[in-house]
Amino acid sequence: MRAAGVRCIDCHEPHSARTRVAGNNLCMTCHALPVPPAPKIDPATHSHHQVGGPGDSCIACHMPQTVYMQRHARHDHGFTIPDPMLTKELNIPNACNRCHVDQASDWTLKAFEKWFGPHMARPERRRAKVIAQARARDQQAMPELLQLLNGETNAFWRAVSAGLLKRWANEPNVMGALLASAGDPDPLVRSMSVRALEPLTALPNQSLGAALGNRLSDAIRLVRIDAAWALHATVDTNSAAGLDLLNYLRHNADQPAGSLQLGVFHLDRGDILSATRYFERAVAWDTNSAPSYHALAVALSLQGRNDEAVQELQIACRLAPRDAEFKFKLGLALNEVGKLDQARAALEEAVKLDPQFAQAWYNLGLAYNALGKTEPALESLLRAEAIDARSPQIPYARATILVQFGRVEEARSAAGRALEIQPGYPPAAELLQTLSRGRAPQKDR
Ligand code: HEC
Ligand code: HEC
Ligand code: HEC
Ligand code: HEC
Repeated sequence: MRAAGVRCIDCHEPHSARTRVAGNNLCMTCHALPVPPAPKIDPATHSHHQVGGPGDSCIACHMPQTVYMQRHARHDHGFTIPDPMLTKELNIPNACNRCHVDQASDWTLKAFEKWFGPHMARPERRRAKVIAQARARDQQAMPELLQLLNGETNAFWRAVSAGLLKRWANEPNVMGALLASAGDPDPLVRSMSVRALEPLTALPNQSLGAALGNRLSDAIRLVRIDAAWALHATVDTNSAAGLDLLNYLRHNADQPAGSLQLGVFHLDRGDILSATRYFERAVAWDTNSAPSYHALAVALSLQGRNDEAVQELQIACRLAPRDAEFKFKLGLALNEVGKLDQARAALEEAVKLDPQFAQAWYNLGLAYNALGKTEPALESLLRAEAIDARSPQIPYARATILVQFGRVEEARSAAGRALEIQPGYPPAAELLQTLSRGRAPQKDR
């Protein structure tokens, strides 16, 4: 409704915040007559409940109440449509079962499909599934997210789609779409597109540089700051957007999250000591923030303070036990301090938490190899390769292991795979040459 121009004060008295009209009549001020674009609702038949009864209340189904922070009951202002099918498939709560608590979701679904089924050819169901898929990192969601980004008229959903596409920003067609949507007429879409492109800023790509560069002079401050942040490693802090960013960072520096962000800013500009100071401040101010401990660990390991890095990562993992990234980093840090078996265990946990984590499978493969577990090493590398089919490094690592064990033919084919992925990939080309000269190749890792 927001996208169609409905505002808080259409329903609320601006001074008292009370609703202008009581009960269903509030909604019916727009939904009784066809006031375009509000869909017309027939109050006698729409809810399939006793007219005037509790099950007939518009807000009971479209604005269900949830208690936040144990004491703050709020009505959902998403004006969502209850859908027991989504409860069954994705565990998304539905308003029906908030009243019918004694009924299983199949009971609700049956009644629901009978009453509303024919009207449910709406975009919501499909969209909810795609978003759930994207959040589960399932790449199958990509094409539909792209459709949403390119074709949806509601800017909020375009922005949501841009945000979710961040994970696949390095796919050429996704990157192309995000470069285009960075120029979207809606500032929220521009902002989310710039954020989604941020992980690519290290790439030497002219159109990317130009797209982000253009946003530095965006009319909207949010977008300018997002663009300056995407380019924060190099942005000129005397430029207008650079100053916007600095002001923004300084303004938030008295908060743990602000201190964390300032730390990242300094870290990425090469000032590791300042970064460490801000990260230390962030963890001192908020001892429950796993990302702050993680950031501190990264800064410590850059200074060779690996034992301390391990400690901070252990805290991060304790605070966020379901986070695969932290387990992965812990694995790498343990490896640095020579605790190979613990490193292996941490990496095993990382891939258990996120079976699509190619980099973690890769490092797990190397860890197994370092422990002399050749078959698990090769299997892990194959897993990594199956997920990330575009990294020549992975089949190359497999080739080096195979060579160690004299499995020359397999090694050749693995090195050949690396060259297929990246023609001329130097380490693989050298390995193949050495193999064809018949010399024992140098052990690589
Ligand atoms: C000021 C006018 C106005 C009022 C008041 C209003 N609506 Fe709407 N509503 C709209 C418009 C316009 C749309 C169409 C939005 C669109 O097409 O994007 C809409 C759409 C909806 C939808 C469909 C949303 C969807 O996902 O497609 C629901 C559900 C809804 N309204 C419920 C309510 C409820 C419940 C109330 C009372 C609490 C209410 N509306 C009050 C104008 C209004
Ligand atoms: C028992 C639950 C329930 C109640 C009560 C209810 N609705 Fe709905 N509403 C639904 C469902 C389910 C849909 C989607 C299927 C459909 O359109 O019939 C829906 C759809 C809508 C839509 C979108 C229609 C469209 O064509 O896009 C609007 C608008 C809406 N409701 C407004 C209202 C208003 C206004 C009231 C109060 C007079 C109300 N609803 C009461 C369940 C409910
Ligand atoms: C389509 C109508 C509608 C619109 C638009 C709307 N509200 Fe509400 N709002 C309601 C209804 C209905 C309630 C429940 C009131 C009640 O039960 O007395 C409510 C309740 C609230 C409450 C009390 C807490 C709660 O959730 O019960 C707050 C705060 C609030 N709204 C803020 C806002 C703000 C801010 C906006 C704009 C961003 C907004 N509302 C837009 C209908 C609306
Ligand atoms: C605010 C509470 C409330 C919500 C929300 C609600 N209901 Fe009901 N429901 C009732 C009440 C009260 C009755 C009995 C009176 C009536 O039919 O209105 C009822 C009756 C029913 C019945 C008939 C039960 C019987 O034994 O004959 C079905 C089926 C049903 N609801 C399904 C649904 C579905 C599906 C939804 C969501 C789309 C829903 N209800 C949402 C309160 C609610």
